Amino acid sequence: MNKVQRVSSLRAAVQAARHDKKTIGFVPTMGNLHAGHLELVKAAQQRADFVVVSIYVNPTQFGANEDLGNYPSTPDEDARLLAELGVDVLFLPDQSTMYPGELAKQTVVYVPEIGDLYCGQNRPEHFYGVTTVVSRFFNMVQPDVAVFGKKDYQQLTIVRRMVADLAFPVQVIGVDTVRNEAGLALSSRNGYLSEAQLATGAVLRQTLLEMSDELQKEGRVESRKALTELEKKARNKLEQAGFEPHYITVCRQYDLEPAHKGDDSLVILAAAVLGKARLIDNLEVELG
Ligand code: PAF
Repeated sequence: MNKVQRVSSLRAAVQAARHDKKTIGFVPTMGNLHAGHLELVKAAQQRADFVVVSIYVNPTQFGANEDLGNYPSTPDEDARLLAELGVDVLFLPDQSTMYPGELAKQTVVYVPEIGDLYCGQNRPEHFYGVTTVVSRFFNMVQPDVAVFGKKDYQQLTIVRRMVADLAFPVQVIGVDTVRNEAGLALSSRNGYLSEAQLATGAVLRQTLLEMSDELQKEGRVESRKALTELEKKARNKLEQAGFEPHYITVCRQYDLEPAHKGDDSLVILAAAVLGKARLIDNLEVELG
């Protein structure tokens, strides 16, 4: 595995691969890799001949009171896992590579509406930071295929919209969430949870499954009012288990607007704070 820090070295490696007629896959990460990230890498390897993984903890997607300073970092273990999987290039840019100018004067990529919902309300700067850094990565790596986890469903939907709106020649692939035995979605932030909280964390997934069962039982969305009732019940369940829910909403898959009567391709999106961790999860539900 070739570890590179500079864009010129990254480009030289990618150009050499292109010269050999290889397609390029890209997996952006913030490091502290777990089995979920490794599935993203495997998905990239299935779809492209040459895979670049980046590790960069992007400051512009963290709010002032968030965990940028404490974000878990395991660089040696990450590099070992990626080398073991046969990743071609590990790109490790520093801040001056990703943001050469003053952060306050940085051009920002903003996906309206869809970026303002849900996590965009609780974390107002978050998606600006994600779409800005992902655009920069796409221009640096110039991948044919880029892979993102479905755990960050809103992020995936926003990146897809950005790619369509800005005509990036990149195919975006979403990969299913990897979970622990209890059903809790793997996340670097699970490291903030105690043993007891890890057990409680699984209630988030159970709640989504129960909501999905109810929707399937009805077979159709009767009204927004019925969904609001379902969301209220779910919120209460999470509160009783010790979460502080930020949102739990039944949405339309394609634009993440709240679902209404007759919608049938749905996704339930949820975010809730448990102890020091803000957990997110989701579940796609197809009716009819
Ligand atoms: O999902 C993440 O880990 C980050 O948001 C990403 C896509 C690497 C951008 O910093």
